[in-house]
Amino acid sequence: MSKKVYIETYGCQMNVADSEVVVSILAGSGYEPTENINDAGLILINTCSIRDNAEQRIWGRLKAISHLKKRKHDLKIGIIGCMAERLKERLIETDQLVDIVVGPDAYRELPLLVAESEAGHKAVNVLLSREETYADISPVRMDKNGVSSFVSIMRGCNNMCAYCVVPYVRGAERSRNPESILKEVNELIEMGYREVTLLGQNVDSYKWDNNSGIVGFPGLLENVAMLNPLLRVRFSTSHPKDISDDLLYTIAKHGNICKHIHLPAQSGSSRILKLMNREYTREWYIDRINAIHSIIPECALSTDMITGFCTEAQEDHEESLSLMDLAGFDFAYMFKYSERPGTKAAKKYKDDIPENIKSERLSEMISLQSKLSAKSKKNDVGKVFKVLIEGLSKRSKEHLSGRTSQNKVVVFPGGNHKKGEYVKVLIERSTSATLIGNIV
Ligand code: 5AD
Ligand code: SF4
Repeated sequence: MSKKVYIETYGCQMNVADSEVVVSILAGSGYEPTENINDAGLILINTCSIRDNAEQRIWGRLKAISHLKKRKHDLKIGIIGCMAERLKERLIETDQLVDIVVGPDAYRELPLLVAESEAGHKAVNVLLSREETYADISPVRMDKNGVSSFVSIMRGCNNMCAYCVVPYVRGAERSRNPESILKEVNELIEMGYREVTLLGQNVDSYKWDNNSGIVGFPGLLENVAMLNPLLRVRFSTSHPKDISDDLLYTIAKHGNICKHIHLPAQSGSSRILKLMNREYTREWYIDRINAIHSIIPECALSTDMITGFCTEAQEDHEESLSLMDLAGFDFAYMFKYSERPGTKAAKKYKDDIPENIKSERLSEMISLQSKLSAKSKKNDVGKVFKVLIEGLSKRSKEHLSGRTSQNKVVVFPGGNHKKGEYVKVLIERSTSATLIGNIV
């Protein structure tokens, strides 16, 4: 009987991509993925440390899963990903819930570590690497739609944002060989995929030095886009300090590079940005969005925002709101600041904004963004967009759902069209989250 692994993924898109690498590595030693947790002999939780509530959620889940061991004594449970390094002692020693702990750069060791745990030992490897990019591993695609997929182009991060745990849990930045990236994208095209998202913590600093010179992110993006005009290319995440005009011209030049940039501002106050060690000011950020609008007029913009960072005064908060208003973001992820042990902010500044103020500021931000999102969708009414069909709409079987290049969800009566096809849709109305229209 084949062995079965069940993998549950938390956190960012990078973790989703990593889980696919993990499944591929385990397949090499006879493990087959299952979607039914009760069938599994090995359960892996791919974890996130970005905020305290992400970790709390995983602890809760781990307690629930560990009950399964009562029924199945040989069941092994592993924690992989970002919580591994930070919490290895607690995971293995104090809580006794976990058999295997593996950090994001040690996945190749998984077969060995699983074998070790089957032999009755606790198995741990949380070493970070300066080289590992899993370049040669073909991820096993776990997405359900078969239309869009993630491709990781680099790992780790060298930006020391004061609040952020990523450099500590995922290590230093390293780029992946462009040939292996193009090969992976080609395989996806052959499998029928129509969209890839190139992933990195800071894609603008992608850099590969080979014999014929240096490949930067604009060059890589262009090469991926040129593989097939039917393939849409997205990327995430850009850093405002590094996003270059060169990149913007590359996006403008290719119809199949999506006109959407996720450009996390984090704050609209230059004083807070300095404390956050973001290396740009409010004015710089505004200059970058002006450049985006002038080089790529139809480009959508989204952001991440943090409220209640150390020392944030009411004026700073208002500057965040006014920046959001000025940028007119199409979409935003907004968070309350959560102190992470070991970061610069945790060591140097006091987490001094009371929880109730953080919450108030966050709800103000969320209500502003819902107005901006609704406005951005209203603006699309009456326009025609090329939509890549992703599948049936959640609400009705007669409707299909897909996305515009700007990453907005469109729902429309599908006729005989199928997922993976492109159709032109005239937008007739919008709700807060969706554009609704008809094929023209
Ligand atoms: N507290 C709150 N939000 C954070 N982020 C990163 N670290 C923290 C933290 N300590 C947010 C940032 C980042 C996104 C992925 O998560 O906005 O862009
Ligand atoms: Fe992704 Fe960061 Fe969370 Fe790790 S800690 S899963 S890199 S968001």
